[in-house]
Amino acid sequence: MNILANITRMWLTRSIKPFVFKNEYDSFLEYMDQDKLGLYVHIPFCRSICTFCPYCKELYSEEKCEKYISALLKEIDTVGRRYKNKKTVTSLYFGGGTPALAVKYLKPVIDRLNKYFDITQGIGIELHPDDVTDETLTVLKNSGITKISIGIQSFSKKYIKLLGRKAPDAEKLKKTLSGNNFETISADLIFALPSQTYSDLKEDVETAFKIGANHIAIYPFIDFTFANSGIKPMKKTEKRQLLDMITVYLNNKGCKRESIWTFSYKPNSGYSSMTRENFLGFGCSATTLLNSQFKINTFNVNEYKKRIDEGQLPTSLTLRFTRRQRMIYYLFWTAYSTKVKSKDFEKFFGTPLKKEFGFELWLMKKCGFITERNGIYEMTLKGAFYYHHYENYYTLAYIDKMWGIMRKCSFPDKMIL
Ligand SMILES: C[S@@+](CC[C@H](N)C(=O)[O-])C[C@H]1O[C@@H](n2cnc3c(N)ncnc32)[C@H](O)[C@@H]1O
Ligand code: SF4
Repeated sequence: MNILANITRMWLTRSIKPFVFKNEYDSFLEYMDQDKLGLYVHIPFCRSICTFCPYCKELYSEEKCEKYISALLKEIDTVGRRYKNKKTVTSLYFGGGTPALAVKYLKPVIDRLNKYFDITQGIGIELHPDDVTDETLTVLKNSGITKISIGIQSFSKKYIKLLGRKAPDAEKLKKTLSGNNFETISADLIFALPSQTYSDLKEDVETAFKIGANHIAIYPFIDFTFANSGIKPMKKTEKRQLLDMITVYLNNKGCKRESIWTFSYKPNSGYSSMTRENFLGFGCSATTLLNSQFKINTFNVNEYKKRIDEGQLPTSLTLRFTRRQRMIYYLFWTAYSTKVKSKDFEKFFGTPLKKEFGFELWLMKKCGFITERNGIYEMTLKGAFYYHHYENYYTLAYIDKMWGIMRKCSFPDKMIL
């Protein structure tokens, strides 16, 4: 698998130079001139740990959480006080872990971010179904949060048991959600579980809409080597059938694909922390993507606090881009939206997309992966499946390796991918 990943990387970057992540880092991040900048905040605590989950998290305690938030506020200050003026940003997302465990600290974190940033497209948060209570939702709304995504995974007893979680109570969720208005209510579902059928998945999707979701994310199950799920992922042909059928079903119902994983009933109810050109990440394991670099914060909560107490940023590794590598990152992140606009690419890099990737675009059109209209390249159903497929493959070849290392070592010397 790695040989193919390396050949693809060399072909696309037109270089034999690998992606080299080093432990040197910038004390100040140059973000003022970055367009379409998004914000992400990671809260790494959970009530219990799910065996299938790859994210950076540990068991919650009030004391740990309080100390973490005070470090987080300092990290925001260290990054934000670099500039006198406020920076306009798109959206802010709280992810985890289970960020609602820090519900009482969300407003202070948002206030601190508002000191340095103007958030123009709303604030979102990931919730565990257990967080969906009137009390928590009221605090979220009062804190300025407009979008929620709920980690349902599946309503089916069979699949939720396989994932080692308790089944969400659809009636209770429906009742609570109907009394609380949010611009976006998204449900996370996991698909491509062993022997899962179209009718199983359709039932999950229908129940998600019944409880009040106007948006769904359908994630393919990924078997991370360092997670311990014991679940075997579905084979490619079965997975494709399932994804194609559910996409057609949703489109026929007027629920449009907004990204490779997400579908939405309402225009502008999008919930995606992925489809952004640039972003600043705060907290353990958070990543930052800027014009010239990609950086990852340490995964270790104690080491994170220690760095911040020393007045430094908690960056563990930094990748300094060659121009061509940055183009690949740009295309990878923006293609999540299933569309790439030549105009935006040219604005970002000062060179036409066709000039840089003419052959690849021609090949993808020939293979039926994309269509082109007025300079907008859009993925077909087939293209979206293959993006899913290669994203999965990339996740196992790169992210799995990177996160595996970062979980073991807080500040590795170097990482070559
Ligand atoms: C941080 S969790 C969401 C919030 C909350 N912690 C929860 O579990 O309900 C983010 C989402 O990632 C997805 N996810 C986690 N592990 C996954 C895996 N191994 N494969 C595919 N999706 C996964 C799940 O759908 C999950 O809801
Ligand atoms: S899936 Fe959600 S609740 Fe489970 S360990 Fe991961 S972040 Fe925590």
